[in-house]
Amino acid sequence: MVRGAPVVLLLKTPLTKTGYVASVFLRGLPFGFIPTSVLGMVDAGIGGKNGIDVGLYKNMVGTINQPHFLLYDVSFLKTLPVIEWRNGFAEIIKHACIKDEAMFKVLKENSLKNFQKNKPLLQKLIQRNAFLKIKVVQGDEFEKGERKLLNFGHTLGHALEKKYNLMHGEAVAIGMAMAAGLSEKIVSFKQTSRLLSLLEKYELPTSADYSKKKIFEILISDKKRDGNSINFILLEKIGKAAIRKISFDQLYKLL
Ligand SMILES: NC(=O)c1ccc[n+]([C@@H]2O[C@H](COP(=O)([O-])OP(=O)(O)OC[C@H]3O[C@@H](n4cnc5c(N)ncnc54)[C@H](O)[C@@H]3O)[C@@H](O)[C@H]2O)c1
Ligand SMILES: [Zn+2]
Repeated sequence: MVRGAPVVLLLKTPLTKTGYVASVFLRGLPFGFIPTSVLGMVDAGIGGKNGIDVGLYKNMVGTINQPHFLLYDVSFLKTLPVIEWRNGFAEIIKHACIKDEAMFKVLKENSLKNFQKNKPLLQKLIQRNAFLKIKVVQGDEFEKGERKLLNFGHTLGHALEKKYNLMHGEAVAIGMAMAAGLSEKIVSFKQTSRLLSLLEKYELPTSADYSKKKIFEILISDKKRDGNSINFILLEKIGKAAIRKISFDQLYKLL
């Protein structure tokens, strides 16, 4: 192996784990990604977060190290199971909520089937999402501010995903619905029903039976915790997100 030459590691694991192995093997090799899922194309392949889980703790060990290239071909998606399409669309809806009201409308006017059938429409949507994430990451690679917005739906979503073994997209969808409810109470968000109907249109869940106590046990161990509080992503309106520091006590009362 020639050090310094670009190397593509073809490992059949999620991109996040492949990026981690490439980042630490031989003290780090250059790597690139060829995502084959919607989620990989619009989210996981972009931004350089590489990591592995330790026990129940997701991405507890990892690096921030950017891929040298990303190569996209939507033909891969022909064989992608529908449940994986939904996972990817949960992140697309997240992007629309935090940054792009016009895209929210495009999603509302279409359906998963439209995107699956219409390759140019799908390519345009994936490109729009990839550029949106790239722009956020370029402005704040190490998540000091703006990049935190990408965690919309993920604080509660990750806790539900871990505790109840949900698919990532399902957990994030429920997390977004819950964050919308909190946004109503904290920043007077008034469009929860618009968000819920879009999630339902893309066959994503909007609620779950869960134990508040068990979810809090996980939230309290969140690596993004800040003392007795957590930075929570709320929506002021569709297309505009805000970060608010919320104490665990307040969160427990509001949920
Ligand atoms: N690093 C980040 O910023 C970031 C962001 C979001 C998600 N993630 C992580 O990314 C992972 C999910 O990404 P993913 O969905 O690409 O994971 P993945 O590669 O595991 O794919 C999900 C499933 O779809 C199958 N699959 C993938 N492409 C296929 C295709 N073209 N045809 C048929 N089957 C196919 C896989 O075999 C797997 O079973 C999670 O671990 C998540 O935590 C990371
Ligand atoms: Zn996610």
